[in-house]
Amino acid sequence: MVSFSALLVTLTAAIGSLAVPTNSTGAAELLQARGGTPSSQGTHSGYFYSWWTDNAAQATYTNLNGGQYSLQWSGNNGNLVGGKGWNPGYNGRVINYSGTYQPNGNSYLAVYGWTRNALIEYYVVESYGSYNPSSAAQRKGTVSCNGASYDVLSTWRYNAPSIDGTQTFQQFWSVRNPKKQPGGSISGTVDTGCHFRAWSSFGMNLGSSHNYQIVATEGYQSSGSATITVS
Ligand SMILES: *[C@@H]1O[C@H](CO)[C@@H](O)[C@H](O)[C@H]1NC(C)=O
Ligand SMILES: *[C@@H]1O[C@H](CO)[C@@H](O)[C@H](O)[C@H]1NC(C)=O
Repeated sequence: MVSFSALLVTLTAAIGSLAVPTNSTGAAELLQARGGTPSSQGTHSGYFYSWWTDNAAQATYTNLNGGQYSLQWSGNNGNLVGGKGWNPGYNGRVINYSGTYQPNGNSYLAVYGWTRNALIEYYVVESYGSYNPSSAAQRKGTVSCNGASYDVLSTWRYNAPSIDGTQTFQQFWSVRNPKKQPGGSISGTVDTGCHFRAWSSFGMNLGSSHNYQIVATEGYQSSGSATITVS
């Protein structure tokens, strides 16, 4: 996730562009109209969901029945990430996903989660659009899980948005190599324990307390759509 300050910039810009006086309700409605679905988290149809947007893109996130969600975004602007799964996550969960994934530009389809103590943001990237996220992280090695090879990487995020506000923390990554082809139907299985054990063997230890663990679609300065069912 990128900085929450982008939200303030967008809000300020939205207010500034108004020709007529408004009030705070009006500003919020305008922001919502411009940014689409407002950020939220909760439980829907038996699954935890998390949806976060900096409101710079036009994005619509919809919770559907069971473990299904859909997301459309456009505007080639800003950062957004959403999906369904569980809270808390755990070390051994085997996660299935299926649906369609059609990014246009920079985007990931990933098992995505957080731990505390230590605060870690993690990704098992199954597919991505134009940008391979492993190009900006430090490569630790490779791991074979569920019949596929993944590059294992870590990187630091400084003063970045997190589940505990703005923090400095590590990101852990497994990036499927080759990626699953985006642009249409997609499905797969991620044995999180396989990745987490590999990460430990490279000195990348998740925190002792799991927060959410979802199958997320993320977009960054891009457009696209996804409809994903998680189980
Ligand atoms: C604030 O703006 C909203 C949306 O335009 C409007 O519905 C509401 O009546 C306004 N409230 C006040 C107190 O002016
Ligand atoms: C995941 O898919 C596998 C087959 O690919 C199946 O055996 C397993 O029951 C599925 N698990 C869940 C939780 O849906």
